[in-house]
Amino acid sequence: MPHVSRVTDYTHLRPHDLKPPGEPEVFFEPADTEIGVWVAADLLPPGGGGTVLDLGSGSGAAAAAMARAGAARVHGIDSGEQTLRYAQTHYATPPGDGRITFALGDFALLSAQQLLATASGPLPEPLIVTSNPAYVPLPPEVDEARPSISGGTDGLKWAGAITGHARALGADLGLTIGSYSTPRRAVAVLTETGYHITAVTLCPLPIGDFTRRHPERVLALEEKAEAVLWRSGPDPLAYFVVGLACRRAETSARPAGAKELMDLLHTAARSTTTRLESLDAPGEMPFPWPVRILDLPPASTRHHW
Ligand SMILES: C[S@@+](CC[C@H](N)C(=O)[O-])C[C@H]1O[C@@H](n2cnc3c(N)ncnc32)[C@H](O)[C@@H]1O
Repeated sequence: MPHVSRVTDYTHLRPHDLKPPGEPEVFFEPADTEIGVWVAADLLPPGGGGTVLDLGSGSGAAAAAMARAGAARVHGIDSGEQTLRYAQTHYATPPGDGRITFALGDFALLSAQQLLATASGPLPEPLIVTSNPAYVPLPPEVDEARPSISGGTDGLKWAGAITGHARALGADLGLTIGSYSTPRRAVAVLTETGYHITAVTLCPLPIGDFTRRHPERVLALEEKAEAVLWRSGPDPLAYFVVGLACRRAETSARPAGAKELMDLLHTAARSTTTRLESLDAPGEMPFPWPVRILDLPPASTRHHW
């Protein structure tokens, strides 16, 4: 893969995945979902195979796309009852096939083994844990209001549980965050848990309506240089969805991480178009990982419950 590559349309989601589910408790943000599938694809074995355990699987569109991307088995877990019913109805494979399955569960409460036990049947190796969790930093008084986006005051409320499960299962890890979800701290959590980043996918996205109405934490983190917002693009207030494909660290050498990720995000934020053209600027130091930019058509509808 070239160092900076671009994708200008949906590769993994299908046209019917781009239609809003129309149910109040089912998350719909197709660019965000697409990025999670790219992250899984970066970690799947080259010839296909393996099992993806998708934590916070939402509508199930991501799980189905991960199976099309080559996973032999995908099992999604979500704590939303209506969300689970939607995923089972629309994306689970028929009983007896069992390639794509879903279960109700709270990954903050269950142990890694309990999460795995919600899946039946053979789980081909390698095991990959993915999550596109709720990652918006919100003030405490509104943090519980939107389970699909509420990421606590630093946006990383769920990161410790997710990385802990991946580590306990000996799995590689795909984690999606926002460029305002304290990315420096996110890398620290990954490093502390024994993971290093191997590929990064970025997608510019306007700040959602709920966050626009409750921007205090995001703006406070930006003020402290712990959040990167995109203020020079087509939308006056946007951010980058950041997909991090991570492998278990095999050496004790400190891998490239927080500084490099912050540099990448600050460089991207100097762009004026959704191509994130500043990442091509001659003279910029090459980033230590391949960087994929998703320059996707804007979605007319978004739904965060
Ligand atoms: C940002 S949405 C992502 C959905 C899906 N992965 C996608 O990319 O389209 C986060 C999902 O995590 C679920 N969720 C939030 N907290 C959870 C928890 N503690 N355990 C399980 N699921 C959770 C929400 O119900 C929501 O469906």
